[in-house]
Amino acid sequence: MPEPHQIDNAAAMARLRAGLQQRGLAEVPSGPVDDEPSPDEPGHPEYHRRNRAEWAVGRWETATPPRYLRARADHPDVTAWAEQVAADPTTAPALLLTGTTGTGKTHQAYGALRLIAETGPRTYEVMATTAADMYGRLRPGGTDRGTEAELGRLCRVPLLLLDDLGSAKASEWAEEITYRLINERYNRCLPSIFTSNLPARAHQDNNGRPLGPNLASVLGERIVSRLAEMTTVVAMTGADRRLQRRAV
Ligand SMILES: Nc1ncnc2c1ncn2[C@@H]1O[C@H](COP(=O)(O)OP(=O)(O)OP(=O)(O)O)[C@@H](O)[C@H]1O
Ligand SMILES: [Mg+2]
Repeated sequence: MPEPHQIDNAAAMARLRAGLQQRGLAEVPSGPVDDEPSPDEPGHPEYHRRNRAEWAVGRWETATPPRYLRARADHPDVTAWAEQVAADPTTAPALLLTGTTGTGKTHQAYGALRLIAETGPRTYEVMATTAADMYGRLRPGGTDRGTEAELGRLCRVPLLLLDDLGSAKASEWAEEITYRLINERYNRCLPSIFTSNLPARAHQDNNGRPLGPNLASVLGERIVSRLAEMTTVVAMTGADRRLQRRAV
């Protein structure tokens, strides 16, 4: 029996229920009230993941040139890589997209960065540049920050896209800078995407002689052996999509 000054909850609920039933109103549920937040409400993990995704996609849009704002990665090896990075960026390899001009390397690369943003990662910071622009900024006087500070930023940014690697004949200086960048990001376990028009390794003729340039002959063996150790290579094939579009 409750003390006279205590409210008997069970009795009060029973009276309330009886009153509601008399008036033909719905019965008050007798179990605990479900006040868990729904995915649309703060407090639910999905609500916060969606907010992070929205913010990260905004960052991605800022880093992406207008031509690739509609890029969506659809190559299975590329989407698999993006999922790996989203799950654990510290163990994901780098991604190297190779293929002739217009096969969609840059499209897939920006698309992969977007996919990672859409998962709503806890941190999302990305820098995207072509190798030629990067060398331009890293040359003495190329940036107000100075070469070492600029290279430091590229070495530390959580996600990096370095487009068109090996497109210019590498000088000893460019080779050194590229090696330091690739090696430093590898040591820091930071995922990167590289694209190149050159095959990673030389195609050979019937006598075993290398056919045409390849990443090793342009960037140097040291860089390519580093890349071989740390990258998933995806060879893009097909016709030049730019020419196809013009033909339509
Ligand atoms: N999967 C795709 N869906 C729709 N458009 C695409 C797709 N892939 C590429 N494109 C479009 O085709 C054109 C060529 O693609 P992209 O620039 O990615 O080629 P690339 O391989 O990087 O060429 P390059 O070697 O000259 O840099 C671009 O305009 C791009 O937007
Ligand atoms: Mg490209």
